[in-house]
Amino acid sequence: MSKKPVQKQEVETTGHSWDGIEEYNNPLPRWWLWTFYLCIIWGIGYTIAYPAWPMINSATAGVMGWSTRANVANDIAAVEEANAPINAKLESVELTAIASDADLNSYAVSAGSAVFKTWCAQCHGSGAAGAVGYPNLLDDDWLWGGSVEEIHETVTVGIRNTENDDARYSEMPAFGRDELLEAAEIDQVVNFVMSLSGEPQDASQVAAGAVVFEDNCSSCHAEDATGDRAQGAPNLADAIWLYGGDYAAIAESVNNARFGVMPPWDSRLTEAQIRAVSVYVHQLGGGE
Ligand code: HEC
Ligand code: HEC
Repeated sequence: MSKKPVQKQEVETTGHSWDGIEEYNNPLPRWWLWTFYLCIIWGIGYTIAYPAWPMINSATAGVMGWSTRANVANDIAAVEEANAPINAKLESVELTAIASDADLNSYAVSAGSAVFKTWCAQCHGSGAAGAVGYPNLLDDDWLWGGSVEEIHETVTVGIRNTENDDARYSEMPAFGRDELLEAAEIDQVVNFVMSLSGEPQDASQVAAGAVVFEDNCSSCHAEDATGDRAQGAPNLADAIWLYGGDYAAIAESVNNARFGVMPPWDSRLTEAQIRAVSVYVHQLGGGE
């Protein structure tokens, strides 16, 4: 073919030739080779120093003893140690005194908010607004009481659970299922309950329903139907419903009764966590 390049004499070729184009056999550049060797040395050093080679259940630990799990455990221990004095204070002061100690209060609210999101939000909602059967904790309508002490007690022992012997407890009779009332009487009392909060109702039943209520319901829900916190009996006159305020929901409450259960938290959370979340709930807006 035509002329060969000038370097022809200095550099040997591999002997390959395609359409007259030959392949030089140049050595790799120094800098490249050294980088390559350094990477190998660094790689070997790394696998000795850090967890690297997979084994059946784990991996080689590495001589530096580094592990992400241990790091997290150390971080948690460090935070707990840093918070130990304030947690001790939170556990020892009067519950009602927390609100007037600005530092303690703001610590309790932020720690309580974290506890709430982890342990309470699945039932009460992440914003604490509740759902059917799970009370709204933002409003000032309380089943068992809205002072910080009452909230603390509710959270500690829970409600109608079998785990804590001191759990808050009460049980509404199932008036329909257990045939304590006739169907006609249930219709009357449901209409009466609806009239209390202005739900559209069959007015012709209300007077008779008031009598049924007086005889069967007022011992728990009170004469004026505003409820009784000692028994966790809801206020039926305030248009705030735990299970619903339409005819079907109230009739269901009266026929089959409800039995809302909340677990106790003293077996799962520390006293400081329970106090923090109680303070958090108390300051949400409805605290008394
Ligand atoms: C498994 C669901 C569940 C979880 C989890 C739960 N709760 Fe409850 N909670 C309930 C139910 C149901 C009631 C209402 C029981 C009743 O009908 O009296 C309730 C009631 C309450 C009350 C009483 C409200 C009132 O009006 O008196 C407070 C306060 C409360 N919960 C706080 C909490 C806190 C704080 C947590 C987290 C530490 C929590 N709850 C976790 C189900 C739950
Ligand atoms: C022994 C006490 C007791 C008696 C008697 C009783 N209740 Fe109740 N009632 C309760 C309790 C406690 C609850 C709350 C149950 C729960 O939270 O799971 C409740 C809940 C209700 C609810 C649901 C309220 C809501 O917010 O969704 C209605 C409606 C109701 N009762 C109506 C009546 C009527 C009507 C009668 C009479 C026929 C009656 N109750 C008799 C204790 C009682």
